[in-house]
Amino acid sequence: GDIAARTRSIVADLRFLEGPLLPILHQVQQEFGYVPQQALPVIAEELNLSRAEVHGVMSFYHDYRDHPAGRHVLKLCRAEACQSMGGDALAERIKALLGIDFHQTTLDGSVTLEAVYCLGLCACGPSAMLDGEVYGRVDDQMATELVAEARR
Ligand code: FES
Repeated sequence: GDIAARTRSIVADLRFLEGPLLPILHQVQQEFGYVPQQALPVIAEELNLSRAEVHGVMSFYHDYRDHPAGRHVLKLCRAEACQSMGGDALAERIKALLGIDFHQTTLDGSVTLEAVYCLGLCACGPSAMLDGEVYGRVDDQMATELVAEARR
């Protein structure tokens, strides 16, 4: 179908790169917003890999989604500077507020929670990003507000 055809054309564009699998997965996710199940056999066949290999690479790197994201994407910085400024506690709080873990989407489809490794705001951690907008010094109150905004 359409997904297979579009995937095939992405593979055709990128297959001659050295180590083409990651750029191909990246481009497929750009195209569809996630990496559809139907894309995997196409990629495997075109690159002469097994489906298990493609699937293994995809799940090893947490950047790839296997289902569409929620309407909003909330990313929490999990890198060292933010960790040292309360990033773990913030992550626990937000996971509890949303009732989901990293790489998951709330049941109502409103929010996907993701980890990110540095948002360039290390001096004012812990930091977060909601739909592309960055926030520093995220305290309990701001966490609650961000979650409320994301759930709308
Ligand atoms: Fe979190 Fe840099 S470590 S923004």
